[in-house]
Amino acid sequence: MTDTASTRVEWLSGRAAQMPGSIFTQMNGAVQEARERGLSIINLSIGSSDLPAPIAALEALRAATHDPASLRYPLFSDTEPLRLAAAAYMVRRFGVVLDPETQVLPLIGAQEGLAHLLLATCNPGDTLLLPDPCYPPYYGAAAVAGLNVHPLPLRAEHDFLPRLDDVPASVQPRALLLNYPNNPTSAVASLEFFEQTAAWCRARGTLLIHDHPYAELTYDGFSAPSALQAGTDGVVELYSLSKSHHLAGLRVGFIAGDASALSALARVKGAIDFHPYLGIQAAAAAALHMPPSGADVFQARRDALVPALRASGWEVAWPQASMYVWGQPPAAPDSLAYTLRAAREVGVALSPGRAFGPSGEGYVRFALVQPPEVLLEAASRLEEIRQAE
Ligand SMILES: Cc1ncc(COP(=O)(O)O)c(C=O)c1O
Repeated sequence: MTDTASTRVEWLSGRAAQMPGSIFTQMNGAVQEARERGLSIINLSIGSSDLPAPIAALEALRAATHDPASLRYPLFSDTEPLRLAAAAYMVRRFGVVLDPETQVLPLIGAQEGLAHLLLATCNPGDTLLLPDPCYPPYYGAAAVAGLNVHPLPLRAEHDFLPRLDDVPASVQPRALLLNYPNNPTSAVASLEFFEQTAAWCRARGTLLIHDHPYAELTYDGFSAPSALQAGTDGVVELYSLSKSHHLAGLRVGFIAGDASALSALARVKGAIDFHPYLGIQAAAAAALHMPPSGADVFQARRDALVPALRASGWEVAWPQASMYVWGQPPAAPDSLAYTLRAAREVGVALSPGRAFGPSGEGYVRFALVQPPEVLLEAASRLEEIRQAE
């Protein structure tokens, strides 16, 4: 049978249409133009660690690939070794004691976990308090869950911490999503901040969600606290093996905290996935049993880049953590125009502050994913732009 008439259907849902992304597409176009002109590209736009993964993790993964039984569907009971490793890490690192049966759940990365957590714990039309600027997929996750976003501007004069007292009493947030050490600003938060924030959330029946992928990427002796040190009631925390353990491609992490929120998440995940591949879980468990590595490398990169940018007239904070430098170029140009120009004219790919939210305008984010000498080369190419003005 042949169709005689067909209608062209647009399959993009209203939800999918709200996903951010166009700024990064423009950036890719500018990088491509530079490449076609023969410029060597220094890519500092994506925060993907370039450091080696722990050998023990790779060995665990390799061993699993030789065991055909590792290919079965991973059931909840199969996640026990990773849940135990995560719980042991939380005690060792933060003194936070968790029930590995009910207060820890493996994730296919923190990003997957967060999107499903919002679906599992919030209803469409609920309000999510979201920092501005923030990691861009947060906007997409909020849109998928049909949430109204109430932005919390992060400003340099308040150390890039949100001002919860400024949230009008008429706003009744279902959840507050935070991330310290912060992407993109590199700001850090104290335990006292988390204690005050958890108390604020509990008084309003608001779930405190803390995304903590940079927990181990801290410098100068600073140690990032866990929000769960303020108690697990109404608080959940997402961990990633991508940054602190250099395993981004494996897509693995875990969530810890409030048992009721985790049980809601497990229900939604039950309809969508079967937990990470067993070999990946074994690699993650092995990594969590090891001391994390690499923070000193990012610190040395910071030590190279920040003074070079300052010497070129940039306003840059001295980050104590994360793998980013967040700064304002001289003469505070439009962030997208500046980064497009940097990519096209000198082959340096950066992230425009605006991509992280309206309050990011005027800033540019550098990911410290190249050795110091390459970062210095990037800074000197950017200085050429300044001198050409
Ligand atoms: C704040 C934040 N959360 C989550 C992620 C992604 O984590 P994962 O790789 O575990 O999905 C990133 C990656 O850049 C991030 O910056």
